[in-house]
Amino acid sequence: MPIITTSDGLPLSYATRGDADGAPVLFLHGFPLSSQLWDDAAGRLPQGFRAVLPDLRGHGATPPAPPGKDALEDPDPSVSRLARDLGELLDALGERRPAVLVGHSMGGYIAFEFFRLFPERTRALVLVCTRANADTEEAARARQIQIHTVLRDGSVAIAEQMLPRLFASSAPDSLREHWRGVMAGSDPRGVAWTLRALARRPDSTPTLPTIRIPTLIFVGAEDQITPPAVARAMHESIPGSRLEVVPGAAHMLPVEQPHAFATVLSEFLSQLP
Ligand code: MLT
Repeated sequence: MPIITTSDGLPLSYATRGDADGAPVLFLHGFPLSSQLWDDAAGRLPQGFRAVLPDLRGHGATPPAPPGKDALEDPDPSVSRLARDLGELLDALGERRPAVLVGHSMGGYIAFEFFRLFPERTRALVLVCTRANADTEEAARARQIQIHTVLRDGSVAIAEQMLPRLFASSAPDSLREHWRGVMAGSDPRGVAWTLRALARRPDSTPTLPTIRIPTLIFVGAEDQITPPAVARAMHESIPGSRLEVVPGAAHMLPVEQPHAFATVLSEFLSQLP
């Protein structure tokens, strides 16, 4: 994968697919996954679009800290840092046009932050199995426990915790196994850095009514992590948004129902003003 260097010296890996001059579609994967989540959808974009597929800080091929630095000593892990990485990636690609942001779960939290930081660079939002609210105190405490777990037992322990809630009952074992491997292969310090950032993320609920750009919301009908009721509430708060509830999918919708996902996404992109 090609690499850009962010302003704090992090080598950020990314891929691009589709028309080299196409309008940018920035795909943001969830935690603790990688840009592979979008393999199928990115290969099926309509003409005139280019997929930009970063491995977010601490995930996939992107390390959690610049060379010589320790992610565990970062005083300020944040979704803001993750959103600024994306602005710097677009800058490095020479991309000044506003981008469509497609954010899965954690990627959605980052998309909200990107929209707040760079409204003029945000053309449309696609919110996939995500939520607007911040962590409750209980959820933030659970992340502290996960940080201890991942640093003691490795990322495989987090993969085992998450796996039972990620997929719909009908998902094949091969799909579960594949993603178990991706999660287990994550850098434990990257997982810990990200858990700290997620626990401190701001509440995006007040942002929802201010979103006046085309917005598509996806949710898996069987999603337990960000259930359909959560997606419906976001839909009601974002003026003019579209909600798509996909049967036969849970939290990993883009890989559980890749055809349905790519079809609706392509239709949405093709209709953008
Ligand atoms: C994700 O899928 O990105 C995570 O479940 C998000 C989270 O832990 O809040």
